[in-house]
Amino acid sequence: MRILITGGAGCLGSNLIEHWLPQGHEIFVIDNFATGKREVVPKVQGLTVREGSIAEESVVNECFAAFKPEIVVHSAAAYKDPENWFEDTRTNITGSIHVAKAAKAIGVTRLINFQTALCYGRPQKLPIPASHPTAPFTSYGITKTAGEQFMLLSGVPTLTLRIANVTGPRLAIGPIPTFYKRLKAGQNCFCSDTARDFLDMSDFLAFMDLAIKADAPVGTFNIASGEAYSIKEIFDLVAEYLGLGHIDVPIVPPAADDVAVVSLDASDTLRAFGWQAKVSFADTIRRQLQWYDQYGISDVYSHLKAPTAK
Ligand SMILES: NC(=O)c1ccc[n+]([C@@H]2O[C@H](COP(=O)([O-])OP(=O)(O)OC[C@H]3O[C@@H](n4cnc5c(N)ncnc54)[C@H](O)[C@@H]3O)[C@@H](O)[C@H]2O)c1
Repeated sequence: MRILITGGAGCLGSNLIEHWLPQGHEIFVIDNFATGKREVVPKVQGLTVREGSIAEESVVNECFAAFKPEIVVHSAAAYKDPENWFEDTRTNITGSIHVAKAAKAIGVTRLINFQTALCYGRPQKLPIPASHPTAPFTSYGITKTAGEQFMLLSGVPTLTLRIANVTGPRLAIGPIPTFYKRLKAGQNCFCSDTARDFLDMSDFLAFMDLAIKADAPVGTFNIASGEAYSIKEIFDLVAEYLGLGHIDVPIVPPAADDVAVVSLDASDTLRAFGWQAKVSFADTIRRQLQWYDQYGISDVYSHLKAPTAK
Protein backbone atom coordinates (compact mmCIF):
# COMPACT_ATOMS: atom_id res chain seq x y z
CA MET A 1 0.00 0.00 0.00
CA ARG A 2 1.00 3.64 -0.47
CA ILE A 3 1.11 5.17 3.00
CA LEU A 4 1.87 8.83 3.73
CA ILE A 5 3.03 9.46 7.29
CA THR A 6 3.13 13.03 8.59
CA GLY A 7 5.75 13.33 11.34
CA GLY A 8 7.33 10.07 10.15
CA ALA A 9 10.71 10.96 11.69
CA GLY A 10 9.21 10.92 15.18
CA CYS A 11 8.99 8.10 17.66
CA LEU A 12 5.75 6.44 16.53
CA GLY A 13 6.23 7.30 12.84
CA SER A 14 9.75 5.88 12.60
CA ASN A 15 8.74 2.68 14.37
CA LEU A 16 5.87 2.29 11.89
CA ILE A 17 8.31 2.78 9.00
CA GLU A 18 10.68 0.13 10.36
CA HIS A 19 7.72 -2.22 10.79
CA TRP A 20 5.96 -1.56 7.46
CA LEU A 21 8.80 -1.14 4.92
CA PRO A 22 9.82 -4.82 5.17
CA GLN A 23 6.16 -5.75 4.54
CA GLY A 24 6.48 -4.10 1.09
CA HIS A 25 4.46 -0.92 1.70
CA GLU A 26 5.61 2.28 -0.02
CA ILE A 27 5.99 5.15 2.43
CA PHE A 28 6.18 8.94 2.04
CA VAL A 29 7.13 11.12 5.02
CA ILE A 30 6.55 14.84 5.58
CA ASP A 31 8.52 16.09 8.60
CA ASN A 32 10.05 19.39 9.66
CA PHE A 33 12.35 17.66 12.18
CA ALA A 34 11.09 19.81 15.06
CA THR A 35 11.35 16.80 17.38
CA GLY A 36 12.02 14.02 14.84
CA LYS A 37 15.46 12.89 13.76
CA ARG A 38 16.82 12.80 10.21
CA GLU A 39 18.86 9.65 10.79
CA VAL A 40 15.72 7.55 11.44
CA VAL A 41 14.41 8.21 7.92
CA PRO A 42 17.45 7.30 5.78
CA LYS A 43 17.51 7.00 1.96
CA VAL A 44 16.23 3.47 1.51
CA GLN A 45 14.11 1.87 -1.18
CA GLY A 46 10.40 2.39 -0.67
CA LEU A 47 10.82 5.48 1.54
CA THR A 48 10.59 9.09 0.32
CA VAL A 49 11.15 11.96 2.74
CA ARG A 50 10.09 15.56 2.19
CA GLU A 51 11.44 18.07 4.68
CA GLY A 52 8.73 20.63 5.30
CA SER A 53 5.91 21.69 7.56
CA ILE A 54 2.31 20.55 7.33
CA ALA A 55 1.48 24.14 8.30
CA GLU A 56 2.40 25.06 4.69
CA GLU A 57 -0.59 24.22 2.52
CA SER A 58 1.46 24.12 -0.69
CA VAL A 59 3.92 21.59 0.82
CA VAL A 60 1.08 19.28 1.87
CA ASN A 61 -0.74 19.57 -1.47
CA GLU A 62 2.45 18.94 -3.49
CA CYS A 63 3.28 15.82 -1.45
CA PHE A 64 -0.23 14.38 -1.77
CA ALA A 65 -0.37 15.13 -5.51
CA ALA A 66 3.06 13.55 -6.14
CA PHE A 67 2.64 10.43 -3.98
CA LYS A 68 -1.12 9.80 -4.19
CA PRO A 69 -1.36 7.90 -0.90
CA GLU A 70 -4.10 5.34 -0.29
CA ILE A 71 -3.69 5.68 3.47
CA VAL A 72 -2.59 8.65 5.57
CA VAL A 73 -1.21 8.30 9.07
CA HIS A 74 -1.26 11.71 10.72
CA SER A 75 1.46 11.58 13.38
CA ALA A 76 2.98 15.09 13.15
CA ALA A 77 2.36 17.18 16.25
CA ALA A 78 3.84 20.18 18.03
CA TYR A 79 4.17 20.08 21.82
CA LYS A 80 7.75 21.10 22.67
CA ASP A 81 6.96 24.45 24.26
CA PRO A 82 3.71 24.65 26.29
CA GLU A 83 3.83 28.46 25.97
CA ASN A 84 4.11 28.44 22.18
CA TRP A 85 0.38 28.38 21.43
CA PHE A 86 0.96 29.71 17.92
CA GLU A 87 3.24 26.83 16.91
CA ASP A 88 0.84 24.30 18.44
CA THR A 89 -2.01 25.97 16.53
CA ARG A 90 -0.06 26.09 13.24
CA THR A 91 0.90 22.41 13.35
CA ASN A 92 -1.91 20.74 15.29
CA ILE A 93 -4.87 22.68 13.89
CA THR A 94 -3.90 24.39 10.61
CA GLY A 95 -1.58 21.52 9.66
CA SER A 96 -4.27 18.93 10.41
CA ILE A 97 -6.76 20.87 8.26
CA HIS A 98 -4.27 20.91 5.35
CA VAL A 99 -3.78 17.15 5.70
CA ALA A 100 -7.55 16.46 5.92
CA LYS A 101 -8.35 18.68 2.91
CA ALA A 102 -5.57 17.18 0.79
CA ALA A 103 -6.71 13.66 1.75
CA LYS A 104 -10.27 14.53 0.69
CA ALA A 105 -9.13 16.11 -2.58
CA ILE A 106 -7.23 13.04 -3.80
CA GLY A 107 -9.67 10.44 -2.43
CA VAL A 108 -7.58 8.85 0.35
CA THR A 109 -9.38 5.70 1.51
CA ARG A 110 -8.49 6.03 5.20
CA LEU A 111 -7.06 8.68 7.48
CA ILE A 112 -5.56 7.46 10.76
CA ASN A 113 -5.06 10.22 13.31
CA PHE A 114 -3.00 9.93 16.50
CA GLN A 115 -4.58 11.72 19.43
CA THR A 116 -3.34 12.33 22.95
CA ALA A 117 -5.23 11.16 26.06
CA LEU A 118 -4.92 14.79 27.20
CA CYS A 119 -7.99 15.40 25.00
CA TYR A 120 -10.09 14.01 27.90
CA GLY A 121 -8.76 16.62 30.32
CA ARG A 122 -9.37 15.68 33.96
CA PRO A 123 -11.38 12.48 33.59
CA GLN A 124 -14.74 12.00 35.27
CA LYS A 125 -14.34 8.23 35.09
CA LEU A 126 -11.49 5.67 35.06
CA PRO A 127 -10.58 3.87 32.90
CA ILE A 128 -11.71 6.58 30.46
CA PRO A 129 -14.09 5.29 27.76
CA ALA A 130 -13.69 6.63 24.20
CA SER A 131 -17.19 8.16 24.59
CA HIS A 132 -15.97 10.36 27.47
CA PRO A 133 -16.39 14.10 26.72
CA THR A 134 -13.27 15.96 25.61
CA ALA A 135 -12.13 18.73 27.97
CA PRO A 136 -8.48 19.59 27.18
CA PHE A 137 -6.81 22.38 29.13
CA THR A 138 -3.26 22.58 27.77
CA SER A 139 -2.10 24.16 24.50
CA TYR A 140 -1.13 20.70 23.18
CA GLY A 141 -4.43 19.10 24.26
CA ILE A 142 -6.61 21.96 23.03
CA THR A 143 -4.99 22.19 19.60
CA LYS A 144 -4.80 18.40 19.10
CA THR A 145 -8.51 18.16 19.93
CA ALA A 146 -9.46 20.87 17.43
CA GLY A 147 -7.29 19.18 14.78
CA GLU A 148 -8.96 15.83 15.45
CA GLN A 149 -12.43 17.35 15.08
CA PHE A 150 -11.49 18.84 11.69
CA MET A 151 -10.29 15.41 10.54
CA LEU A 152 -13.61 13.87 11.59
CA LEU A 153 -15.41 16.71 9.77
CA SER A 154 -13.47 16.21 6.54
CA GLY A 155 -15.63 13.49 5.06
CA VAL A 156 -12.59 11.21 4.69
CA PRO A 157 -13.10 7.83 6.46
CA THR A 158 -11.22 8.65 9.66
CA LEU A 159 -9.94 6.44 12.46
CA THR A 160 -8.78 8.56 15.36
CA LEU A 161 -6.84 6.85 18.12
CA ARG A 162 -6.59 8.15 21.66
CA ILE A 163 -3.28 6.59 22.58
CA ALA A 164 -1.74 5.73 25.96
CA ASN A 165 1.97 6.28 26.67
CA VAL A 166 3.65 4.11 24.05
CA THR A 167 7.14 2.89 24.94
CA GLY A 168 9.68 1.62 22.46
CA PRO A 169 12.76 2.42 20.37
CA ARG A 170 13.79 6.10 20.54
CA LEU A 171 11.35 7.04 23.33
CA ALA A 172 12.85 10.26 24.70
CA ILE A 173 9.94 11.67 26.68
CA GLY A 174 8.48 11.04 30.12
CA PRO A 175 9.55 9.31 33.33
CA ILE A 176 11.28 6.18 31.94
CA PRO A 177 14.12 7.91 30.04
CA THR A 178 14.31 10.63 32.70
CA PHE A 179 14.83 8.17 35.60
CA TYR A 180 17.17 5.98 33.56
CA LYS A 181 19.37 8.92 32.57
CA ARG A 182 19.42 10.58 35.99
CA LEU A 183 19.91 7.45 38.07
CA LYS A 184 22.75 6.29 35.82
CA ALA A 185 24.40 9.71 36.25
CA GLY A 186 23.99 9.49 40.05
CA GLN A 187 21.51 12.39 40.08
CA ASN A 188 18.54 12.83 42.41
CA CYS A 189 15.01 12.25 41.17
CA PHE A 190 11.50 13.04 42.30
CA CYS A 191 8.25 11.35 41.36
CA SER A 192 5.10 13.22 40.52
CA ASP A 193 2.15 11.67 42.36
CA THR A 194 0.49 10.56 39.14
CA ALA A 195 -0.29 7.33 37.29
CA ARG A 196 -0.30 6.53 33.58
CA ASP A 197 -1.28 3.80 31.16
CA PHE A 198 1.73 2.30 29.31
CA LEU A 199 1.67 0.36 26.06
CA ASP A 200 4.54 -1.57 24.52
CA MET A 201 5.45 -0.64 20.93
CA SER A 202 4.85 -4.24 19.77
CA ASP A 203 1.22 -3.97 20.92
CA PHE A 204 0.85 -0.60 19.18
CA LEU A 205 2.30 -1.94 15.91
CA ALA A 206 0.05 -5.03 16.07
CA PHE A 207 -2.93 -2.67 16.29
CA MET A 208 -1.70 -0.55 13.36
CA ASP A 209 -1.49 -3.66 11.14
CA LEU A 210 -5.22 -4.15 11.81
CA ALA A 211 -5.96 -0.43 11.39
CA ILE A 212 -4.76 -0.27 7.75
CA LYS A 213 -6.86 -3.22 6.59
CA ALA A 214 -9.42 -2.14 3.97
CA ASP A 215 -12.41 -3.40 5.99
CA ALA A 216 -11.20 -2.09 9.39
CA PRO A 217 -13.68 0.09 11.33
CA VAL A 218 -13.38 3.88 11.43
CA GLY A 219 -14.34 6.18 14.32
CA THR A 220 -12.82 7.00 17.69
CA PHE A 221 -11.00 4.35 19.72
CA ASN A 222 -8.70 4.12 22.73
CA ILE A 223 -5.41 2.27 22.25
CA ALA A 224 -4.12 1.37 25.70
CA SER A 225 -3.62 -1.36 28.27
CA GLY A 226 -6.49 -0.02 30.40
CA GLU A 227 -4.35 -0.11 33.56
CA ALA A 228 -2.74 2.80 35.39
CA TYR A 229 0.67 2.45 37.11
CA SER A 230 2.20 5.14 39.29
CA ILE A 231 5.34 7.07 38.38
CA LYS A 232 6.81 5.73 41.66
CA GLU A 233 6.30 2.15 40.38
CA ILE A 234 8.31 3.08 37.29
CA PHE A 235 11.02 4.65 39.44
CA ASP A 236 11.26 1.44 41.52
CA LEU A 237 11.50 -0.73 38.40
CA VAL A 238 14.24 1.47 36.92
CA ALA A 239 16.22 1.50 40.21
CA GLU A 240 15.86 -2.29 40.48
CA TYR A 241 16.90 -2.76 36.83
CA LEU A 242 20.03 -0.65 37.40
CA GLY A 243 20.88 -2.74 40.48
CA LEU A 244 20.46 0.22 42.85
CA GLY A 245 18.02 -1.54 45.19
CA HIS A 246 15.46 0.47 47.12
CA ILE A 247 15.87 4.26 46.93
CA ASP A 248 13.76 6.72 48.92
CA VAL A 249 12.44 9.28 46.48
CA PRO A 250 10.38 12.43 47.12
CA ILE A 251 6.81 12.27 45.83
CA VAL A 252 5.52 15.67 44.69
CA PRO A 253 1.91 16.69 43.94
CA PRO A 254 0.93 16.80 40.27
CA ALA A 255 1.80 20.08 38.51
CA ALA A 256 -1.04 22.50 37.73
CA ASP A 257 -1.09 21.38 34.07
CA ASP A 258 -0.90 17.67 34.90
CA VAL A 259 -3.62 15.01 35.29
CA ALA A 260 -3.41 12.72 38.34
CA VAL A 261 -4.44 9.41 36.79
CA VAL A 262 -4.87 8.38 33.16
CA SER A 263 -5.99 4.95 32.05
CA LEU A 264 -7.99 4.36 28.89
CA ASP A 265 -10.75 1.81 28.49
CA ALA A 266 -9.98 -0.07 25.26
CA SER A 267 -12.88 -2.57 25.50
CA ASP A 268 -14.57 -1.03 22.39
CA THR A 269 -11.28 -1.57 20.53
CA LEU A 270 -11.29 -5.24 21.54
CA ARG A 271 -14.88 -5.63 20.31
CA ALA A 272 -14.31 -3.79 17.00
CA PHE A 273 -10.77 -4.93 16.10
CA GLY A 274 -10.20 -8.04 18.23
CA TRP A 275 -7.14 -6.24 19.67
CA GLN A 276 -5.89 -5.92 23.21
CA ALA A 277 -2.52 -5.21 24.77
CA LYS A 278 -0.46 -8.33 25.50
CA VAL A 279 2.80 -7.13 27.09
CA SER A 280 2.68 -6.69 30.89
CA PHE A 281 3.65 -3.41 32.57
CA ALA A 282 6.87 -4.79 34.09
CA ASP A 283 7.95 -6.28 30.75
CA THR A 284 7.07 -3.03 28.94
CA ILE A 285 9.39 -1.05 31.24
CA ARG A 286 12.15 -3.70 31.16
CA ARG A 287 12.15 -3.81 27.34
CA GLN A 288 12.51 -0.04 27.25
CA LEU A 289 15.46 -0.09 29.64
CA GLN A 290 17.13 -2.88 27.65
CA TRP A 291 16.77 -0.68 24.55
CA TYR A 292 18.51 2.25 26.33
CA ASP A 293 21.30 -0.11 27.42
CA GLN A 294 21.83 -1.11 23.80
CA TYR A 295 21.33 2.17 21.94
CA GLY A 296 21.70 4.94 24.51
CA ILE A 297 19.40 7.81 25.13
CA SER A 298 18.90 11.11 23.29
CA ASP A 299 17.40 14.42 24.46
CA VAL A 300 14.55 14.10 26.94
CA TYR A 301 11.51 16.31 26.19
CA SER A 302 8.35 16.84 28.19
CA HIS A 303 5.22 18.69 27.14
CA LEU A 304 4.42 19.39 30.78
CA LYS A 305 6.06 22.11 32.79
CA ALA A 306 8.33 20.79 35.55
CA PRO A 307 6.40 20.50 38.82
CA THR A 308 7.83 22.49 41.71
CA ALA A 309 8.75 20.33 44.71
CA LYS A 310 6.94 21.50 47.85
N1 LIG B 1 4.14 8.50 21.72
C1 LIG B 1 3.05 8.40 22.45
O1 LIG B 1 3.02 7.69 23.46
C2 LIG B 1 1.81 9.15 22.06
C3 LIG B 1 0.67 9.08 22.87
C4 LIG B 1 -0.48 9.75 22.49
C5 LIG B 1 -0.51 10.44 21.28
N2 LIG B 1 0.60 10.50 20.54
C6 LIG B 1 0.52 11.25 19.28
O2 LIG B 1 1.22 10.50 18.29
C7 LIG B 1 1.90 11.37 17.41
C8 LIG B 1 3.37 11.03 17.35
O3 LIG B 1 3.95 11.15 18.63
P1 LIG B 1 5.47 10.82 18.86
O4 LIG B 1 5.59 10.35 20.24
O5 LIG B 1 5.99 10.00 17.74
O6 LIG B 1 6.08 12.31 18.82
P2 LIG B 1 7.37 12.82 18.05
O7 LIG B 1 7.65 14.19 18.52
O8 LIG B 1 8.46 11.82 18.17
O9 LIG B 1 6.86 12.86 16.54
C9 LIG B 1 6.18 13.97 15.98
C10 LIG B 1 6.84 14.27 14.65
O10 LIG B 1 6.14 15.36 14.05
C11 LIG B 1 7.12 16.23 13.46
N3 LIG B 1 6.52 17.54 13.29
C12 LIG B 1 6.23 18.46 14.27
N4 LIG B 1 5.68 19.56 13.71
C13 LIG B 1 5.61 19.32 12.37
C14 LIG B 1 5.14 20.08 11.26
N5 LIG B 1 4.62 21.31 11.42
N6 LIG B 1 5.23 19.54 10.03
C15 LIG B 1 5.76 18.29 9.86
N7 LIG B 1 6.22 17.54 10.87
C16 LIG B 1 6.14 18.05 12.11
C17 LIG B 1 8.29 16.18 14.42
O11 LIG B 1 9.51 16.61 13.87
C18 LIG B 1 8.30 14.70 14.77
O12 LIG B 1 9.09 13.95 13.88
C19 LIG B 1 1.60 12.80 17.88
O13 LIG B 1 0.50 13.28 17.15
C20 LIG B 1 1.20 12.62 19.33
O14 LIG B 1 0.28 13.61 19.74
C21 LIG B 1 1.76 9.88 20.89
